[in-house]
Amino acid sequence: TDLAHIRNFSIVAHIDHGKSTLADRLIQETQTVALRDMKAQMLDSMDIERERGITIKANTVRIDYKAKNGELYVLNLIDTPGHVDFAYEVSRSMRAVEGSLLVVDSTQGVEAQTLANVYQALDADHEIVPVLNKIDLPASECEAVAAQIEDVIGLDASEAIQVSAKTGVGIIETLEAIVHRLPAPKGDVDAPLKAMLVDSWYDSYLGVVVLVRVIDGSMKKNDRITFMQNGTVHQIDRIGVFRPQMVNVERLGPGEIGFITASIKQVRDTRVGDTITSEKKGTAKPLPGFKPSQPVVFCGLFPVDSSEFEDMRDAIEKLALNDASFSYEMETSAALGFGFRCGFLGLLHLEVIRDRIEREYNIELITTAPSVVYHLYMKDGEQRELHNPADMPDLTYVDHVEEPRIKATILVPDDYLGDVLKLCQDRRGIQLDLTYAGSRAMVVYDLPLNEVVFDFYDRLKSVTKGYASFDYQVIGYREDNLVKMSILVNDEPVDALSMMVHRDRAEARGRAMVEKLKDLIPRHMFKIPIQAAIGGKVIARETLSALRKDVTAKCYGGDASRKRKLLDKQKAGKKKMRQFGKVDIPQEAFISALKMD
Ligand code: GTP
Repeated sequence: TDLAHIRNFSIVAHIDHGKSTLADRLIQETQTVALRDMKAQMLDSMDIERERGITIKANTVRIDYKAKNGELYVLNLIDTPGHVDFAYEVSRSMRAVEGSLLVVDSTQGVEAQTLANVYQALDADHEIVPVLNKIDLPASECEAVAAQIEDVIGLDASEAIQVSAKTGVGIIETLEAIVHRLPAPKGDVDAPLKAMLVDSWYDSYLGVVVLVRVIDGSMKKNDRITFMQNGTVHQIDRIGVFRPQMVNVERLGPGEIGFITASIKQVRDTRVGDTITSEKKGTAKPLPGFKPSQPVVFCGLFPVDSSEFEDMRDAIEKLALNDASFSYEMETSAALGFGFRCGFLGLLHLEVIRDRIEREYNIELITTAPSVVYHLYMKDGEQRELHNPADMPDLTYVDHVEEPRIKATILVPDDYLGDVLKLCQDRRGIQLDLTYAGSRAMVVYDLPLNEVVFDFYDRLKSVTKGYASFDYQVIGYREDNLVKMSILVNDEPVDALSMMVHRDRAEARGRAMVEKLKDLIPRHMFKIPIQAAIGGKVIARETLSALRKDVTAKCYGGDASRKRKLLDKQKAGKKKMRQFGKVDIPQEAFISALKMD
């Protein structure tokens, strides 16, 4: 196809504003897929994504559209992940296209995530077409939302398209806008091959599938290509496009988006953002902006049933094959036995992986408190990364500790602003900005990532009754007075509960934790001290009193089935407990104890 008849675009939207529904409509309207083949929400291929209503892997589809001017256009839609954890992946997908549809739910208005993704699109020099969706709903307020797009984002929304992805109103107008308002790609077919690796995943039949955007030159079957990041050479054995099912093509030229397979063994060998060129007479200059993905949140994952460790290793290795940004190494904990210390791009990423191990592999897990990566500056001049609070060296060897900070953007209705400010303040936040758009406030805070990874989002949702939206990016490392707090149960330190805290907050956090643990740990036949300590110094303490009688005692003389039930219940409870010295700690204690109320 000649460049003038190609349009490449992505759809930027907040969760639930209708991105997938609109994509389905565009596909349907152009009849890329016969109607009977249409599955609901075709672009979201993984179950877990559908269930959670989020899009994780970039997907893509090529559709043919005969415009009103009678000419035939090829439209390539790249579906970008909608979540902050995948900001880098989003930025790469954005660089692979020239324009975006900005979809805003006309009953809801602009949300924090919309903003973050629009900025990414603007960074990539996109032409942006605003689309007001859900105009079929009575609560739709197109004018107000258009005004908000202009106020908050600074985009001209006078020609926003009014759409109902549900009923199909405005779909043709959207297709026409893609053709006439978005620019055609540029590129030189005679230049050496330069293609961007936009995404890659493992397919059990085809092996690793690589999504590419050709910038210059062209690629075809049997070409030998180089991945410039690590210099590996592969021969293309399949080349094609998504309609959205895979269809082979002869070649891919400048401006085109498609896939290749090339007997690549693991997804790890393909890096998002890498430049692909030909082995001979390749380009000398890779595309700018490549960044290896770096896990920012770490936690320990342990099988509840230690006999499942090998199955778990298997599961983790399989998942890692398909996810270059997930890292793991074996970890042993005195209390939890064998498991893995895993690194993730963020909390959502963590949850997705954990859920997949539990559901797809049927292994119940204990998750230890998520921790961020700290930078330790040792007195002897050495610099280290700390991924696990349990590994924190004695403070006498440490000169200072730096922690990652984020810039958080929160959009919230006026009424809840006070609660949001208080929450951010409680989490050691520094206010950077506060502006209004209509009856909503936009708050920007500099916050320690550590204070956000655990339950910030849950708290934010609960103090604002679900009305706040939130987005963040990591902005760098800063020194602070951080110490390791250990938890001792019956005088035994429980590694999985140790955490890094700010010195000034340690007492309060320690007290809250031991109080919670006192409620979470069942009583035993003996007294159990529960303590929080920094170094050797105990900063909070509770004592769990001893059980006076056997739980079944009160049933003596009563009916036997009741007694049986009690015993069964105890037994079921046991399975989810872990022994720490002489004490059984239930699994949920590990997560619950760390939540701050
Ligand atoms: P994520 O994949 O989670 O990012 O969400 P999304 O932006 O893709 O939203 P999705 O297309 O899944 O739509 C969210 C909900 O809004 C679904 O229940 C849709 O049926 C509904 N919806 C989408 N477009 C319209 C519309 O034009 N009108 C109405 N009434 N509902 C719509």
